[in-house]
Amino acid sequence: MTCHIEIKNASKKFKDIKIFENLNLEVEKGKIYGILGPNGSGKSVLFKMICGFIFSENGKVLIDGQELGVTKRFPDNFGVIIDRPGYIANKTGFENLKELAMIENKITDDKIRKTMELVGLQPTAKQKVKSYSLGMKQKLAIAQAIMEDQQTLILDEPFNALDADSVNNIRKILKDFKNQGKTIIFTSHNREDIEFLCDKVYAINNYQLELVK
Ligand SMILES: Nc1ncnc2c1ncn2[C@@H]1O[C@H](COP(=O)(O)OP(=O)(O)OP(=O)(O)O)[C@@H](O)[C@H]1O
Ligand SMILES: [Mg+2]
Repeated sequence: MTCHIEIKNASKKFKDIKIFENLNLEVEKGKIYGILGPNGSGKSVLFKMICGFIFSENGKVLIDGQELGVTKRFPDNFGVIIDRPGYIANKTGFENLKELAMIENKITDDKIRKTMELVGLQPTAKQKVKSYSLGMKQKLAIAQAIMEDQQTLILDEPFNALDADSVNNIRKILKDFKNQGKTIIFTSHNREDIEFLCDKVYAINNYQLELVK
């Protein structure tokens, strides 16, 4: 069976800084994967490679058997949070999501509102994103990654800046997604999130991914 996501022998460096050397990873559909690693170890770089935003020097990334940069430019149907997402500061949360939804034009305004409620944002609030708190911005980032029912979620530190109730809510949402057959890869500096959610956990070690659970 073809892997959903497969990284083969990927090496990556920036100038003289080595990030990965002959990295391999196989991701199956319908499971939750956690990635651990200290600041600067390459978690966000890994996610950018999986999404086709950057390329390794020699290896390849295959999505359902199709090589990124060769037979496929970007993966289809991925919901992604990597680093700080850019927002239109002078628009409301709803307006920001609406702008994004108009690119593909496949969801209704009602779906946007329901997604905002699901992650704990008020869809009718008049507040502009520039005055959002960190946690509210994080919820908006989660909303954009899931609102189109993306089947694969690549979430770089999705729990950042969330209060305890919100963490529980997002954990539950991700578990439900897994039960619906979605695939999730996420990073966290919090072991509890990783242990609660993940089928498999990898740590970045020695420029590669080491299976730790
Ligand atoms: N575009 C780039 N140009 C040069 N160096 C880069 C670039 N992107 C990342 N790096 C370097 O690669 C290393 C890994 O960065 P990355 O952002 O993946 O770390 P991280 O594991 O996500 O860290 P954090 O936990 O702080 O988010 C860092 O040393 C970073 O400076
Ligand atoms: Mg990072």
